[in-house]
Amino acid sequence: MALRVSLYYTEFTGDNVALKNRKPNVLVIDDAYCVRQSLQFILRDTCNVLLAPGALEGQFFLSTHQIDIVLLDIRLRSTDGIRLLSEIKQTYPYIEIIMITAHASLETIRKAIRFGACDYLIKPFDKNELMSVIKNALIQREHALGIKNELDMLNESTLYLEHLIRNAEDTMMNSSKNNMTAMLLNIDSRDGYTWSHAKRVTKLSLLIAEKMGVTDEQTQWLKCSASLHDIGKLHIDTDILKKESKLTDHEYEIMKRHPEEGVKIIRPLPFLKIAVPAIRHHHERYDGQGYPFGLQGKEIPFKARILAVADAVDSMMNSPVRQNPCAVERVERELQGNSGSQFDPEIVDVVIRCKLLSFF
Ligand SMILES: [Fe+2]
Ligand SMILES: [Fe+2]
Repeated sequence: MALRVSLYYTEFTGDNVALKNRKPNVLVIDDAYCVRQSLQFILRDTCNVLLAPGALEGQFFLSTHQIDIVLLDIRLRSTDGIRLLSEIKQTYPYIEIIMITAHASLETIRKAIRFGACDYLIKPFDKNELMSVIKNALIQREHALGIKNELDMLNESTLYLEHLIRNAEDTMMNSSKNNMTAMLLNIDSRDGYTWSHAKRVTKLSLLIAEKMGVTDEQTQWLKCSASLHDIGKLHIDTDILKKESKLTDHEYEIMKRHPEEGVKIIRPLPFLKIAVPAIRHHHERYDGQGYPFGLQGKEIPFKARILAVADAVDSMMNSPVRQNPCAVERVERELQGNSGSQFDPEIVDVVIRCKLLSFF
């Protein structure tokens, strides 16, 4: 019998589908006893038939058996058949559902198809029509499961590729991190300050970010930007870096290049692109009088505004060129005095209110 051959086609375990001969499992959900019995009688030679008189029993079989096809009454006493159809399709999208009804209206059938039914049968059944509808539903199911398998394999390949890319990025990041550390230490060997300065600026920046509710992911990038904010000093002459007396105008102009030089150093590393704005703009001032671009207020990237405060604090408290490092109270007064001119007032407010300098 041709039908029998086409019916024995698919087997699946969990989500994995493998071709293997077996009888398809057909679930009949209909509250009319005679309908259930007659469907079982017709299908029993070609299918494993499970009978459910209502939605609850139907859902039970769906959760405990690997159902291929559901024959579902459109008008169940216990629930609306269309709603049940929709629920089944949401949970088991690859099960084909054939609606059965004694009162077919075009609108009801359209609705059933819209909610995912693959076909419909009108009571009383014609045996040949029933078998033909079942056969078509199984072909559709086989096709859908084939597509699902391909999609699953594609997803697996994508995940694997993403994993490889992440590993490669991690390796690249680690080796770049080592290179960056070596560069910072190189500057430090010339000015005896930049390495420890970068560490303190990073610490204070993270304290500020935490109090301002910055997300974990953003905090990671702030950490990276803060660590590298002065890396451009690598391109600044040692005499200028180490000069203890006031820089001449010309020397100061050269020193002001270090944010852009820093950007040039990290630009070849695409994964550090996100750190560029903070590095480039950490010497901007809130009133627009800073460098390199004279950005003003909120035009200055948020992470750069945090860095500007942390950078100035460390410079006041620890810079080797200062004769008298400032105490916490003096630094707080300086911050307040320059709030809104040099610094973002919200950030100054957080530093003072949360007494962050006492943790610094
Ligand atoms: Fe700087
Ligand atoms: Fe700095």
